[in-house]
Amino acid sequence: MSKKLYFGTNLKMYKNIADTVSFLNDLTAYTEDLGREEIELFVIPSYTSLPDAVKIERRHLVHLGAQNMGWEDQGQFTGEISPLMLKELRLDLVMIGHSERRHTFRETDYEENLKVLSALSHGFTALLCIGETEQEKEFGVSEEVLRSQIKIGLHGVTADQLGKVWIAYEPVWSIGVNGTPATPEYAAHMHKMMRETMVSLFGDAGAEVPLLYGGSVNPGNAESLIVLPNVDGLFVGRAAWNAEAFNTLIRKSAAACAAKA
Ligand code: PGA
Repeated sequence: MSKKLYFGTNLKMYKNIADTVSFLNDLTAYTEDLGREEIELFVIPSYTSLPDAVKIERRHLVHLGAQNMGWEDQGQFTGEISPLMLKELRLDLVMIGHSERRHTFRETDYEENLKVLSALSHGFTALLCIGETEQEKEFGVSEEVLRSQIKIGLHGVTADQLGKVWIAYEPVWSIGVNGTPATPEYAAHMHKMMRETMVSLFGDAGAEVPLLYGGSVNPGNAESLIVLPNVDGLFVGRAAWNAEAFNTLIRKSAAACAAKA
């Protein structure tokens, strides 16, 4: 049997409310026939689009998430959004530690850990994003960086909670308009190391945590990345923001996995 596949996109600071709703309506229509037992689809819109996003007609076909979250339930935290506020919207997941949060907004591993623990304790799926910078790669410490991002980010997570953890590996140098996609060989190496780290931390349960690859995923490289043994999904930015193109990428990726199984 083919592995279960995860496909998702973060809309970053793009798409207003109307554009988000129309994207979600199109995407769910295009992908309606794809069995959700085999394929998990998720979209992470802007905060302001979320109240409308959760009201779309085919809501059950897509997991919806927030791009960030404060870790306290309430308090003197101007500008933050609390887990209780996100719960009111019945969101499925919270993305934690996206590269742009870590590097543009200087979030630390310790903060990501607080957010992971808070998200899990409120019943969200926690999508922890990790990735090394270009400089860390040049200094040959990519593996150490990823390992510590996992170990600190998931510190205190219990075996019971692990079923709601997803990890996205997105090398910082591969993300965005100036990014270079990782080669399948490079991604395979890092994903294997990530899987070993998860198993060493959590035993067999660590083998079940979905590991997604992200960073300049596009129609030309999606198939070669999704078929890798420790890659369970693709986390796509620019190449997913047109629903029809994303649908094509998903179908081709799923077909490549089926052909390999
Ligand atoms: P990209 O973005 O696919 O446009 O490189 C990936 C991401 O930031 O998650």
